[in-house]
Amino acid sequence: MIEISTDINKAKKILENNELVAIPTETVYGLAGNIYSETAIKKIFETKKRPFYNPLIVHIHNKKLIDEIAINIPEKARILADAFWPGSLTLLLEKNNKIPDIVTAGRNSVAVRVPNHPLTLELLKVLNFPLAAPSANPFGSISPTRAQHVADYFSNDIAMVLEGGNCENGIESTIIGFKNDEPIMYRLGSISIEEIEVLVGPLKVKNHSEKLPESPGMLSRHYAPKTKTILVEDIEKELSLHTDKRIGVIVFKTIIDKTNINYTEILSEKGDLKQAMSNLYAAMHRLDKLKLDLIIAQKFPEEGLGKSINDRLERATKE
Ligand code: TXA
Ligand code: MG
Repeated sequence: MIEISTDINKAKKILENNELVAIPTETVYGLAGNIYSETAIKKIFETKKRPFYNPLIVHIHNKKLIDEIAINIPEKARILADAFWPGSLTLLLEKNNKIPDIVTAGRNSVAVRVPNHPLTLELLKVLNFPLAAPSANPFGSISPTRAQHVADYFSNDIAMVLEGGNCENGIESTIIGFKNDEPIMYRLGSISIEEIEVLVGPLKVKNHSEKLPESPGMLSRHYAPKTKTILVEDIEKELSLHTDKRIGVIVFKTIIDKTNINYTEILSEKGDLKQAMSNLYAAMHRLDKLKLDLIIAQKFPEEGLGKSINDRLERATKE
């Protein structure tokens, strides 16, 4: 049985024993294992039912450790690490030979970040190895933003979730890689395009490549509820087309016509995109448990973090 606990020493012992612990981060919970233990890394892939071609993010507690993970680090990568670490930015860099191939799925790049959660930073500090951690959900399903979400998925598969409360940002980190030392965004995430561009200039965004993605996280069906989900501009109009169904809605600030809705998730009554982002996955988890016929989500404003929220909602609609 899975234990939900704040006991860092216990987490340390489990990890040192080549087993997995789910860890809190400020984005989503991760399913963590020792990057140098082939046993642990294999368990990550098996537990998530994740294909071995899809590489993992390496988590470190201090940006100074970056040189043990990567080589030939572009100047703009250092600028971004200085600005955002600890935080929700993952850098794709040329890998140091010390990093086992199974972690990077045989690629010569490695994904790395310093997460911003006090418990996990403390845990990383007492370990003498970094942690590989994908989001702690079965491949393709909604990422967990509460310890209980992890327990719901993996109660029989892992020994422990380190209890770190609700994830503050609530969607995954933003992934930035480099070509000829210039930044490319491979995954929209908790840090907006605008926040990055202020520091390093215009960004190429390659978030949606369908075939042979350079970052496999761009596979379009991802973050998906089991319930059929659609994303629309005009939610009131859409509702009038489905009067015979049991419906849940996800809206930004408010909803006017409530007549045939069974359940409403308002993500931020005060209209704050960051708060909406933080609530998104928990709302999707709740709606998905209600055995509804349909989830209708409202498109968010295409600006700042609204773009990241729309990205996850769009992926949730893919069959
Ligand atoms: O916020 C986050 O990033 C969370 C927390 C736990 O840190 N982690 C997370 O991991 O979202 P995961 O595995 O669910 O998503 C990481 C994405 C995957 O889509 C993977 O394909 C991509 O990063 N990735 C990792 N290493 C890569 C590499 N070497 N080259 C290209 N893409 C890589
Ligand atoms: Mg994931």
